Amino acid sequence: MSAPAPATGKRRPKVSIVGAGMVGGSVAQTLAMRDYADIVLVDIVPGLAQGKALDILEAGPVLGFDTSLEGTDSYESTGGSDLIVITSGIARKAGMSRDDLLKTNMGIVRSVTEQAVRESPEAALIIVSNPLDAMCHVALEASGFPRTRVIGQAGVLDAARFRTFIAMELNVSVRDVTAFVLGGHGDTMVPLSRYSTVAGIPITELLAADRVKALEERTATGGAEIVGLLKTGSAYIAPGASVVEMIDAILLDQKRVLPCSVLLQGEYGVDDLFVGVPVKLGADGVEHIYDIPLTHVEQAAVQKSAAAVRDLVDTMRRLGSP
Ligand code: LAC
Repeated sequence: MSAPAPATGKRRPKVSIVGAGMVGGSVAQTLAMRDYADIVLVDIVPGLAQGKALDILEAGPVLGFDTSLEGTDSYESTGGSDLIVITSGIARKAGMSRDDLLKTNMGIVRSVTEQAVRESPEAALIIVSNPLDAMCHVALEASGFPRTRVIGQAGVLDAARFRTFIAMELNVSVRDVTAFVLGGHGDTMVPLSRYSTVAGIPITELLAADRVKALEERTATGGAEIVGLLKTGSAYIAPGASVVEMIDAILLDQKRVLPCSVLLQGEYGVDDLFVGVPVKLGADGVEHIYDIPLTHVEQAAVQKSAAAVRDLVDTMRRLGSP
């Protein structure tokens, strides 16, 4: 990521990050180094947000950034945020699926979203808590925001994983690799190889079919691979960087085309479900949803992935939320 243009006299945009765990801390650190936003990091655990904020600030003199960054356990200082990132919730431990997190995290995400949007009714929301697509439904309902301002981070991370694996396989720079992942952020996600390229060349032209399939499968289980290695938690560095790419796109009005989880209302034949699809992100949040043509096989895979999200939403309804 190259540095953004210098500020032009306008106040710096304000970003609040709710949850100062590993992902929240990683978002705060990466965004602080970008040096264009004022940041508030919130957590109910006493001292956690304050400690991480101070630690990041103390890297400023060494790394050369002057970001204003406050750690707090109350929502008061988050008031008037342009963007709020919701990372709260428990993370996966070895052997747990993202869906195991459903029950606990739906209550947490509802509560923190309500508190955060009360202070910042005009903000855009980026949701990171898992199970991601289901938590987007909770945040949409709890905030009452339009679908353009409730955006789930998953596809940027999943595509980054796919790009990494493609680059490793072909021994080329990740910078020349683009990758495309559709669907929910779960085991049914749909890495689309036909639309994944090295300098514009579809990877299906560069790799044997069985290798393409192996890279797709590694991408779909990329989160679990890290959980299995770390044993005590899930990924946070690439997730944090992925959130910051979305923050840049919105606050710097970059019109980036990125895979994000958004509420579909008929696109891809899916109604009223958050599913990962390519969108244009700019100052108005989700400015366009790209409804691209798919083969029958790809369309069926997207439907299967959407059905997995539908199951979680139905389970939440039975449990009384959203
Ligand atoms: C992952 C978790 C954070 O994909 O969902 O790593």
